[in-house]
Amino acid sequence: MTDERIGGLSAARIADFSAAEAAAYAAARPRSRAALAAGSGAFLDGVPMHWMRDWPQPFPMLVARAEGAVVEDLDGHVIDDFCLGDTGSMFGHSPAPVARAIRAQADRGLTTMLPSETALEAGRLLCEVFGPMRWQIATTATDANRFALRLARAITGRPKVLVFNGCYHGTVDDTMVRLEAGRTVARPGLVGQVEDLTQVAVAAEFNDLASVEAALAAGDVAAILTEPVMTNSCMVLPAPGFHAGLRDLATRHGALLIIDETHTISSGRGGYARVHGLTPDIFVTGKCVAGGMPTAVWGVTEPVARRFAAYDASRPAGHSGMGTTLSANPMQFACLVVTLSEVMTAENYARMEAGAARLAAGLTKAIARVGAPWHVVRVGARVEFICAPGPLLNGTQAEAAHAPALEAAIHQGLLNRGCLIAPFHNMMLISPATTEAQIDRLVDSFGAVLGLLFET
Ligand SMILES: Cc1ncc(COP(=O)(O)O)c(C=O)c1O
Repeated sequence: MTDERIGGLSAARIADFSAAEAAAYAAARPRSRAALAAGSGAFLDGVPMHWMRDWPQPFPMLVARAEGAVVEDLDGHVIDDFCLGDTGSMFGHSPAPVARAIRAQADRGLTTMLPSETALEAGRLLCEVFGPMRWQIATTATDANRFALRLARAITGRPKVLVFNGCYHGTVDDTMVRLEAGRTVARPGLVGQVEDLTQVAVAAEFNDLASVEAALAAGDVAAILTEPVMTNSCMVLPAPGFHAGLRDLATRHGALLIIDETHTISSGRGGYARVHGLTPDIFVTGKCVAGGMPTAVWGVTEPVARRFAAYDASRPAGHSGMGTTLSANPMQFACLVVTLSEVMTAENYARMEAGAARLAAGLTKAIARVGAPWHVVRVGARVEFICAPGPLLNGTQAEAAHAPALEAAIHQGLLNRGCLIAPFHNMMLISPATTEAQIDRLVDSFGAVLGLLFET
């Protein structure tokens, strides 16, 4: 029997390592295991949200407390947190200004469906941080993307969204397509999906302007929806000139350009678009934008706002299909204002950037030490190691680079050594609260895990 090679390692070696690490994890968590045995039956899938099952551990870690860049589990293990809620806590768990704002707002009302002076201040700050756009508030980035798409379809009168193969923009049904032999098809595994998604979406390859132009040529694309950097498969950076080309193609073909900065808000104050001078028609971000309070924002340029006003005045009265009751509530605004003004500061971003550079350099060295054919990518505070050679050019290459069994083994090994990284990809975030000692511990742990995996 041949032993399959994954990321330069034998599958059998990976499986042995995984089994030993999983056993060590389980043995160190008797309280968590007992609590889950007693309580998880109340939930579909055994957890309150099915993604909580998608971690590589044999059973989920029960969190007792999260603070700064640390989580403590029910069994008393204090863990350095580089997952940070997959970006929801990118500025650290409960940043002090946000915690204070929550306490202050707690006695003044939680939801009213009316604006306030604080809401107006949030609008001013959104323009200051992200640029002069006309804003709306949602509760999740998924919703913000959905609403942005509705607006784009409304004002262009076109049905389709163009997305990139391998993208993720939240659970927006219309974006759940992929390329197969050059054709757009629905992704496999979508639960309860009954619509023909190819009627509302077309896929192209990232960094391939010719494939974008071909998809736009039919004249039925309302908007291109893209992250500036693909962060949801193995990370793919934009090639020089790609974003300028995308902007030009969108304009020439009458499609709007929606830039989703839900993850690339790691790039610096104002996100990747501000840092790199991109000019989207619609800007979307969420997750950490209000310091961890569920909040997303989307903004449109003045010309797009004018087109929408004309459309809105002409449509029949009735449901718009946009909005959710609890969105734009006073607690969101309290958190948004302090996050934009006191947390998302240039100083904090500089600290995050320096820490992430330290981490990327340390991981790169550890990979070189064992001679693994891997690489490291970074977008501001966001760092990823990829168990394949790089750089990757597009979603097809990113999918091929993904090594689930090997990645799960490394994640488990790191957690057993006190470091938590994101479950769906090899992503690590540096928050303003993350210390150099924590970063060095992660680099050392990564080196130790690689040493065990690659030792002959
Ligand atoms: C780029 C991007 N956009 C949107 C979303 C959706 O965010 P949420 O799950 O908070 O709705 C995600 C989630 O990972 C994302 O990565």
